[in-house]
Amino acid sequence: MGLGAKLRRVRRQAFELADVCWDDIGFGIIPTDYMYVMRCPRDGEFSNGTLEPYGNIELSPSSGVLNYGQGLFEGLKAYRKEDGSILLFRPEENGVRMRMGAERLCMPAPTVEQFVDAIKATVLANKRWVPPPGKGSLYIRPLLMGTGAVLELAPAPEYTFLIYVSPVGNYFKESYRRISSPPIESWVFVHEGLAPINLVIQNDYHRATPGGTGGIKTIGNYASVLKAQSEAKEKGYSDVLYLDSVHKKYLEEVSSCNVFVVKDNTISTPAIRGTILPGITRKSIIDVAVSLGFQVEERLISVEEVLDADEVFCTGTAVVVSPVGSITYHGKRIVFEQMVGDMFIVGYPMEMAELGLCPNNSTLFLQD
Ligand code: COI
Repeated sequence: MGLGAKLRRVRRQAFELADVCWDDIGFGIIPTDYMYVMRCPRDGEFSNGTLEPYGNIELSPSSGVLNYGQGLFEGLKAYRKEDGSILLFRPEENGVRMRMGAERLCMPAPTVEQFVDAIKATVLANKRWVPPPGKGSLYIRPLLMGTGAVLELAPAPEYTFLIYVSPVGNYFKESYRRISSPPIESWVFVHEGLAPINLVIQNDYHRATPGGTGGIKTIGNYASVLKAQSEAKEKGYSDVLYLDSVHKKYLEEVSSCNVFVVKDNTISTPAIRGTILPGITRKSIIDVAVSLGFQVEERLISVEEVLDADEVFCTGTAVVVSPVGSITYHGKRIVFEQMVGDMFIVGYPMEMAELGLCPNNSTLFLQD
């Protein structure tokens, strides 16, 4: 073993880790030590957040979130570096996005500063659950919900902001393993387990409509795709790629992530028009692709174009950058190569942040 590798091993041993089989984590809940809770009383503001032991919460049966879906969530990750310190990727962006969603759902929201401070406190309190370098990340799930009781259709009188965390590995790894005879024989893991995923285009179900809430991270957007997603999984696909609900022709996004299409030297992604989530990974990949000299276009992308693409990949906090191996549309399967997306997978997100390729809002903080 070389000196560098030895030093890395010594450093790794220097930080305390929870008792988890780190080689075998997928994307599921592993209960951790603490959650963060901050409340906004009737006619008040969010203040006095506290760390509490992770566990069940008490909720009124008449709460706005249970009755009328008045709730938002966010997703971001913390990564362990070789020296034991922890990198939090662009948390301010999530704080801003939560505020945008809150405005659309008539909810008060923590300030961006409160949001970022709460994320840091939660991650530090749970730092033994941040996986060792290269073994995954700590997924951070902030929730904002109407917890006050309400019977008539109206904004809830009280709100709760809550953050919990769980160590995670690859998002699509589980579904890969569950399928005993994958639809594509050449499925292989590339770059630390990221398998090309196999999407199906659905035209019977749509994810969002103009004027609706597709552009914010409201909980209802995710419940409404479960049926399409489970039907696709039953048929052996990894997930569904949705088309717009008006023309039934233009790409929108996948159930849990944004989509990019590569043709020659141009990388295109559906433009943000209110029906697509403004992904933070999406935005970061656009920045990086431009800095690497690609032509990047945010525009309408027709289904015919995607079927003629060289390559397709998906981006999201949970899925990171997932190559798409195939897309099936009206029973016809188109197979894609994996090159450009892989370039981003290799270095995402730590190297990108450190090289200054994602210059804004990357926060590096040491263990306390
Ligand atoms: C994320 O990428 O953080 C998401 O919110 C997707 C979620 C459905 C797992």
